[in-house]
Amino acid sequence: MLEKVRKLVEKVKNYTPNSNEDLNNFKIEYLGKKGVLNSLFTSFKDVSIDKKKDFGSSINHLKSLVQNKIDVYKDSFEINEKNGCNIDLTKPVSIENLGTRHPISLIRNQIVDIFSRIGFTISEGPEIEDDWHNFSALNLPKEHPARDMQDTFFIQTNPDILLRTHTSSVQVRYMKNYQPPIRTLSPGRVYRNEAISARAHCIFHQVEGLYINKNVSFADLKQSLLYFAKEMFGEETEIRLRPSYFPFTEPSAEVDVSCNICVGKGCNVCKHTGYLEILGCGMVDPNVLENCNINPDKYSGYAFGMGIERIAMLKYGVEDLRLFYENDVRFLKQFFSS
Ligand code: PHE
Repeated sequence: MLEKVRKLVEKVKNYTPNSNEDLNNFKIEYLGKKGVLNSLFTSFKDVSIDKKKDFGSSINHLKSLVQNKIDVYKDSFEINEKNGCNIDLTKPVSIENLGTRHPISLIRNQIVDIFSRIGFTISEGPEIEDDWHNFSALNLPKEHPARDMQDTFFIQTNPDILLRTHTSSVQVRYMKNYQPPIRTLSPGRVYRNEAISARAHCIFHQVEGLYINKNVSFADLKQSLLYFAKEMFGEETEIRLRPSYFPFTEPSAEVDVSCNICVGKGCNVCKHTGYLEILGCGMVDPNVLENCNINPDKYSGYAFGMGIERIAMLKYGVEDLRLFYENDVRFLKQFFSS
């Protein structure tokens, strides 16, 4: 009898359940009404008196081992199930839901990519700028009425320091540091004190381009912009230049692309004109070159600047600019990186 209990003790010690169900069966087998322990207790009366003491303590030992086993594994199964760890490790991995690039980044990268194919390189500068780089060097001395074209956020304690209103300030820095030939593209965030609406925001993004070399002409500007428009909006796209005014360029123009929604026929988006405005441009004013220590008798150049939000709205058919800033995942996940 004692030998039988000793074997059962060994068996229980070596037992490892694989699941809750397994453990339940083990419990019934040992602690159930017709289980191993009950039948051992019943046979207690058949044991001779001198062995009763040993037999009694050995079945008690067995019982506590069984109970212990149940307690240990019951807890561990419960924890695993709670943590969701009770998993099939052979299952294939589920694919993680990856984020998408922001549409503004996508368009910025496309613009940079298009111009880098014709030799432009990127330049960057500070978003907190001084008056000279943002205005004065660009032919906009203090009190010049054209400063009103770009409502400015000034840093309160110092009226000379402001949030840049365009990335032309980066081009001023670039011209100060390098002599022609210059072919640079300045993407970045800019700030204007404007009421927020579907078409305007106080923070937006620009890409401005600058090319300075000997004999750069307006024809070069026009051809580069036509190339850009076709790459961005499709081979069929046409451009139209309208005379305009910017203090830092002379002559200046605003550029429209043929509406890719109605293909020039006239629709709500292009307000029935068949064209959509995309950027401002012109030949760099000789005063600006001089301010940046470049000889205007030797060199000429063109510059252009566009709002990334505007291009993104036209390209993706987004009607409200504020959507770009709301971080609504339902909006953002519609854009895939290419
Ligand atoms: N800096 C101008 C703006 O922000 C855009 C521009 C750049 C116009 C270069 C002409 C030439 O409105």
